Amino acid sequence: MSQMKHIDNTPSTPGKCKMEKSPYSRPRLHYSLAKLTFWSLVFIGSIFFFFFRSPSSSSPVPSDLSRRSLRTSSYSGPAWEKRVRASAKIRSRNGISVLVTGAAGFVGTHVSAALKRRGDGVLGLDNFNDYYDPSLKRARQALLDRTGVYIVDGDINDVALLKKLFDIVPFTHVMHLAAQAGVRYAMENPSSYVHSNIAGLVSVLEVCKSVNPQPAIVWASSSSVYGLNTKVPFSERDRTDHPASLYAATKKAGEEIAHTYNHIYGLSLTGLRFFTVYGPWGRPDMAYFFFTRDILKGKSISIFEAANHGTVARDFTYIDDIVKGCLAALDTAEKSTGSGGKKKGPAQLRVYNLGNTSPVPVSNLVSILERLLKVKAKRLIMKLPRNGDVQFTHANISLAQTELGYKPTTDLQKGLKKFVQWYLRYYGNGKKSAQ
Ligand SMILES: NC(=O)c1ccc[n+]([C@@H]2O[C@H](COP(=O)([O-])OP(=O)(O)OC[C@H]3O[C@@H](n4cnc5c(N)ncnc54)[C@H](O)[C@@H]3O)[C@@H](O)[C@H]2O)c1
Ligand SMILES: *[C@@H]1O[C@H](CO)[C@@H](O)[C@H](O)[C@H]1NC(C)=O
Repeated sequence: MSQMKHIDNTPSTPGKCKMEKSPYSRPRLHYSLAKLTFWSLVFIGSIFFFFFRSPSSSSPVPSDLSRRSLRTSSYSGPAWEKRVRASAKIRSRNGISVLVTGAAGFVGTHVSAALKRRGDGVLGLDNFNDYYDPSLKRARQALLDRTGVYIVDGDINDVALLKKLFDIVPFTHVMHLAAQAGVRYAMENPSSYVHSNIAGLVSVLEVCKSVNPQPAIVWASSSSVYGLNTKVPFSERDRTDHPASLYAATKKAGEEIAHTYNHIYGLSLTGLRFFTVYGPWGRPDMAYFFFTRDILKGKSISIFEAANHGTVARDFTYIDDIVKGCLAALDTAEKSTGSGGKKKGPAQLRVYNLGNTSPVPVSNLVSILERLLKVKAKRLIMKLPRNGDVQFTHANISLAQTELGYKPTTDLQKGLKKFVQWYLRYYGNGKKSAQ
């Protein structure tokens, strides 16, 4: 937990420097000049803001300017560019070149490896922040490195870096997975959600809309946008306007921002609402992961139940199924229609649920883990706190089924078996300890 503390201290949001009233009160002619000057300053200011803002939470002094510029300037030179180009090189006929943000993350690693395996060009981008143990992210990076995927260490808010990457490689697609994940952590560090999920998304889309040719973008939304809905299964046509957490609200905002960039700039945008993804190389902040760790340690685990002993259940979705959905979304994405920041015609705008369509009560998840680990869990039944978690998730995937050919094939039993095998190998039965 302590390592999560210093992610904060991000500089104030751009909104704070917005001025409601013009400070100038001059004759009309001068007014427009003043207005122009003002907006130029705002523009230059925001460039500086994006460029120098140092969100890399792994650095103890987040806004150390000299450090950021030093870091960015190390991203240059022929050797580095060669590395970027080699990673993004397309090796199959009709292959695509994809910039994968959040590539050192759980989903990003699996998607990058799958793309590389089939011959697509892949370049990763990740800031390796310490929301959870960064050594796991480094281990995923090492894994990808062996398959020829290079992950640039940088932040999605670094517009200059993003532009530079597009200068070197004209990516056909962006798989945008970088985000501040986790529902409960939003109460601890709300600004990290605004930074990565809102400002970061805008920064990625700003660059995508201005490059030529514009890439098609597939990005991760979340099942959490269904918030407090009670009608199940959740369908894409259901309302999504009462989120239960700041995380959910930033994902919902992302969907609206996507609509805007599609509408104004002709960007092809596909949002994927993932439902509780799990599997090997997964996220230590998720229940199936820390339950495994705590059961093995003999520590008690908290299992939530809703009011009146209501079951808390999740539509757990195995990582390989999610990867297939991501690749299908990339493969069916139409080209963006704009160029040079101008829209030329209507572009594709899609949203899909990617779930498993079989919710499992969390207590069943624990029973499966007990069997696989051959250890009895010490269960503490607790009331579901009102801190962002919803009681139930269940995906209606018929839209993804018809339009993407998406068809999940791994049930929780089978998927957890693979997770536990990985966990025991990776943590060496307790030699390396999961924090
Ligand atoms: N895993 C799930 O169950 C789940 C469910 C719904 C949605 N999602 C979404 O899917 C995406 C991938 O999730 P994941 O489970 O792989 O999470 P993850 O935390 O493992 O991966 C996200 C990666 O993005 C990186 N990152 C975060 N902010 C960044 C920034 N500002 N600049 C550069 N890199 C940054 C992190 O270092 C991390 O490696 C996220 O957008 C997440 O919100 C995941
Ligand atoms: C699932 O969604 C589709 C539309 O995408 C709808 O036709 C169907 O009735 C829904 N199924 C259920 C069980 O709600």
